[in-house]
Amino acid sequence: MKLLAPSILSADFWILGEQIKACVEGGADIIHFDVMDGHFVPNITFGPVLLESIKKHCPLPLDAHLMIENPDRYIPDFIKAGADMVSVHVENTPHLHRTLELIKNMGAKAGVVINPGTPLSLLEEALHYVDFVLLMSVNPGFGGQKFIQRSLQRLKKLRAMVDAVNPSILIEIDGGIKEDNILEVARAGADIMVVGSGLFGAQDVKAQTTKLKNLILSSEAL
Ligand code: DX5
Ligand code: ZN
Repeated sequence: MKLLAPSILSADFWILGEQIKACVEGGADIIHFDVMDGHFVPNITFGPVLLESIKKHCPLPLDAHLMIENPDRYIPDFIKAGADMVSVHVENTPHLHRTLELIKNMGAKAGVVINPGTPLSLLEEALHYVDFVLLMSVNPGFGGQKFIQRSLQRLKKLRAMVDAVNPSILIEIDGGIKEDNILEVARAGADIMVVGSGLFGAQDVKAQTTKLKNLILSSEAL
């Protein structure tokens, strides 16, 4: 079952609740929550307080993508606030095993994230203790960037690496995914498609969610 995860980074925050509701009604599966600290990435977004208030109203699992320095310091706060999935970057998590165990021990799904310029071989060991891998298809920090085409080759290679260890590990892909490439990305082996500007940039967020979800589902019919 392939899943659609709207990234609220590109939402209209004036009407955030309405927009998340439109995603839920349109058939989204997960809400993707981009946490940036202005250090690991050159942008600042939001923290556990916002996640906690979304959790009170949103029936979908919340996926916290942590683009922050010293993620261990904040992981408990995000999980207590209601994060169901938490991912940390391989590039800035020195004690990856300990960090992923912390996430799992607190009851959330643990993921490792990898940037476009980082060799996939760095994931080799982590695949033995993650629930999901998040493959970045843009450099993290901003919504609305162009999909890096080489990500498709990396996705296929990652799929093979994952399947050799544990085929139940989910692969999530994030960055530059739109209605014109989502089908290709799903067919190349991703399980969870994150979409920000390609969803919230539409006039009708609910209709766009349904359109993207149907494209994803059509990839499974083949
Ligand atoms: C980038 C974030 C993404 C971003 C995706 O650092 O991790 O989740 O919101 O936005 P789009 O789909 O517009 O590339
Ligand atoms: Zn993200």
